[in-house]
Parts: sequence; structure tokens; C-alpha cells
Amino acid sequence: MEYALLNGEIIDRSEAKVDVEDRGYQFGDGVYEVIRVYNGKMFTLTEHLKRFANSAESIGISIPFSIVELTEMLEELLLKNNLQTGNIYMQVTRGTAPRNHLFPTGNVPPTLVAYTIKGVRPLENLKSGVKAILTEDIRWLRCDIKSLNLLGNLLAKQKASEQGCFEAIQHRGQDVTEGSSSNIFIVKNGTVITHESNHLILKGITKDVIVDLCKKNNIPVLERTFSLAELGEADEVFLSSTTAEVMPVIEIDGNKIKSGNPGPLTRNLQEFFKKEIEKQCGVLVNNGI
Ligand code: PDD
Repeated sequence: MEYALLNGEIIDRSEAKVDVEDRGYQFGDGVYEVIRVYNGKMFTLTEHLKRFANSAESIGISIPFSIVELTEMLEELLLKNNLQTGNIYMQVTRGTAPRNHLFPTGNVPPTLVAYTIKGVRPLENLKSGVKAILTEDIRWLRCDIKSLNLLGNLLAKQKASEQGCFEAIQHRGQDVTEGSSSNIFIVKNGTVITHESNHLILKGITKDVIVDLCKKNNIPVLERTFSLAELGEADEVFLSSTTAEVMPVIEIDGNKIKSGNPGPLTRNLQEFFKKEIEKQCGVLVNNGI
């Protein structure tokens, strides 16, 4: 049997149902996290839980559990589902109330759901790299909140997929922001550059790990806005996310990045990133790149 967490209780996943008037379902009025699991252990869990709490707080939802309680519940969920490699999806909504744009008054408890998804590391793509398209960033101006409202992201990702690509790199005018579900990095003359963490992008947990790894390994790194022109002239391009790790981008809108192969600095960062996973979650058996 598969289990899910619903409002603090671990129950049969097929019984985990929410009301038609749950505000997440009707308005996307909630926030979420995706947490990677390697060897049955959650990678960068504290960072994810802190961002979850911050996202919720920024839209006025108070999560009815402490970080310690959430950790215990997620650990139990992992054990019950015997998940070794995969993801935890977790979301909290403003709860169930008669449909109204206004926040419900009174004591409406948030709805918190988590469940697990089996999934191996994307080794083939990590090795060979992926293709991307460019698309105008049409999303709202609070992309720092990991909101359930993902329509802009979905439209971008779908467009990429229809063109045989893995990701859509979004830009506001001439400024590159982020992927539809990832952060974007360029490498120029040995310096790694990625958008500063502000309201225009999600402050990716993977991005932060990569920036730290650069600093620890004396790789120059800048968090600043870069342009489409800089993207076009980059020596290397890669994207990052919980599920994609450090993913080389080898082609954008049909134009190869340099030779069209993953670059050397990207490869080094993949190695450092793998070591960081192993530090937190143990050795990745038969899962190396
Ligand atoms: N997406 N930017 C956006 C818009 C994202 O949706 C994500 C992650 C990231 C990378 O964040 P992190 O490194 O913390 O995963 C950046 C998740 C994986 C998703 O929606 O499935």
C-alpha cells in the first residue's frame, strides 16, 4: 500500500482526498516543495522546510506544524513507503471554505498534503546535456514564492516540450530570469553567473548549493542579472533543480553552446554536487555519472 500525509496523519494514499472547495484546488491558493530523496534520506531537507515556511508566511498561511514535527512526519512517510530514490511532494493550502476571493474568516485550518514519488536520477541527460528554448517570462512578480499557481511555468515548459526540448529559459525583455522549473547558469571566462535571488526568480535550493560549492572550490561566482546576449555568448550553460541537479544545456533555440557538449566547469560542478549528495545521503551506488 502507498501512504500519504494528510493534515498530520499518515493514511492510505487512495483515501487522501480534499474537498472541491479546497482553496488550492480552486485558486491555487497555497505553496509547495519538492524534496529529493537519495538512499532513503532527504537531501537539503532543512533548506526546503525553511523555504516552505517562508513561502507560506509570505501569503499569510501558517503551517500548523513545526519544522521538527514536519521532519518526523516526512521521515515516517518515507519509511512507510520504503522510498529509496525519488521525491517527496508537499503542499499546503489555505484550507476549505465557501468559494470567495477573500481569505476565509474564522478558524479555517490549512490543508497539508505530502506523498512520495519513485524516480531515479536523470543520468542520461546529466551525461549528454539537454536542449532548451527561449521564451518571454509572462509570470507574476513574486516568483520567489513557491506558489501552486504554475500556469506561466506550465505554458513555457509545454512549449519547450513541443519543440523537442527539455526546458524553456525565460527572459523579461533582454534579461534572463530562470527556467520554467529550474534556475539557469552561464559560465564565461571561468566565472559562473546566475540571476540574483530576488522577486523575479525562485531562490533554488540547488542553486544555493551550487553557489556554495563554487565558493568552497575557488570558482569565481556572481549572482547578478545577465542578458540574452551574454547567454548567447556563454562558454557553458547549465540549469539546476531538485530533480535535475546540475544539468548541462547544450543547445538553445537550435544554436549549439560552443561545441555542443557539456562544458568542463559544468562537469566539475556535477562531481562536487554528487559528493555533496553523498555527504548528506550516503554513497550513490550504481548511480554515478
Ligand atoms: N521546481 N525555479 C523554478 C520556477 C522552479 O520551479 C524550481 C524547482 C527551481 C529550482 O529550485 P530547487 O533547486 O529548489 O528545486 C527554480 C521543482 C523541482 C518543481 O516544481 O518540480
